[in-house]
Amino acid sequence: MDALSIITETDRLALCAPQMCHIDSLASLWSDLETMRYLGGGGVWTHEQVTERIERAIKVQAERGMTFWTVVEKASGVIIGQGGLVPIAFVGDEIELGYRLGKAHWGKGYATEIAGLSAAYGFGVLGLTDLVAVCYPENLASRRVLIKAGFTEVGESDAYYGVPTIVHRMNTNDCVR
Ligand SMILES: CC(C)(COP(=O)(O)OP(=O)(O)OC[C@H]1O[C@@H](n2cnc3c(N)ncnc32)[C@H](O)[C@@H]1OP(=O)(O)O)[C@@H](O)C(=O)NCCC(=O)NCCS
Repeated sequence: MDALSIITETDRLALCAPQMCHIDSLASLWSDLETMRYLGGGGVWTHEQVTERIERAIKVQAERGMTFWTVVEKASGVIIGQGGLVPIAFVGDEIELGYRLGKAHWGKGYATEIAGLSAAYGFGVLGLTDLVAVCYPENLASRRVLIKAGFTEVGESDAYYGVPTIVHRMNTNDCVR
């Protein structure tokens, strides 16, 4: 892997600018059906789809100073997922916070850490005032993560991705980090 370009970090995790050399690691994580169950259409992503998404993530970082960053576990140096901030669905005016981790890395509090870190970066560095996050109603782990990170559930809507999702909001005063 090329030298990491760390955007923000905790003791355990680094959120790094996406690079093309991250594709193989991420494609391996996103080829697992259980991991992808609550993402998009619920299917795995091919290497080509991951490549397109990394290209987009790099472009959004350059244009907006935010993106879905590559998450590296600092103790192991391993890429474990993605998380961060993007214009919702890559088109909207609102800024969406999101995260996804490979299955081997669930249950360690990492998603909550990524959410808190991303929110703090958005409010503190980017000067944002409001964030939105959405997840499928059945994704109870993600709903729990958002509440722990300081979001409030505001109801179900199909306004964002054309499917029913639970909408969560947080403003700068709610940030727990
Ligand atoms: C959802 C996901 C991000 C959670 O990551 P994680 O690092 O395991 O989350 P954390 O450890 O920070 O917190 C998970 C919380 O959910 C709880 N939880 C886990 N599974 C649960 C379930 N089935 N029902 C209710 N709560 C659950 C955990 O107990 C924990 O809460 P606690 O700290 O109060 O005990 C991870 O499983 C993932 O990446 N999944 C695949 C992609 C995805 O769904 N991304 C989110 C899209 S909106």
